[in-house]
Amino acid sequence: MIFVGELSDIPVGESVRVQGTVAIAVFNVEGELYAIDDTCTHQDASLSDGWLEGCAVECPLHAACFDLRTGRPSGPPAKTPVRTHAVVVEAGQVFVHESVTVDAQAADLAARVAL
Ligand code: FES
Repeated sequence: MIFVGELSDIPVGESVRVQGTVAIAVFNVEGELYAIDDTCTHQDASLSDGWLEGCAVECPLHAACFDLRTGRPSGPPAKTPVRTHAVVVEAGQVFVHESVTVDAQAADLAARVAL
């Protein structure tokens, strides 16, 4: 697991970036923590620099929105989901358990969108 920081270091509505095998963004949405790959699947933009809209983040470069629960983009220009990761809070400390693959349903959806 990857240590992210103290829970108090991630205020509601904010995000932090940590390094796993790739950069991972951790978001606090009204007290619920979500982690996704930080790099947009369209081009090289950091999603932790994007804007939270409910349970989605809008990419700061071309405005694709990714659902933080599934990693799925809501529409173009991004077509491929980002990976989602489990977040664990233990004794006020936040950890991310990095996933190996993208959510299977999200990957299937991306494949159909690309057809
Ligand atoms: S880089 Fe994210 S939508 Fe283009």
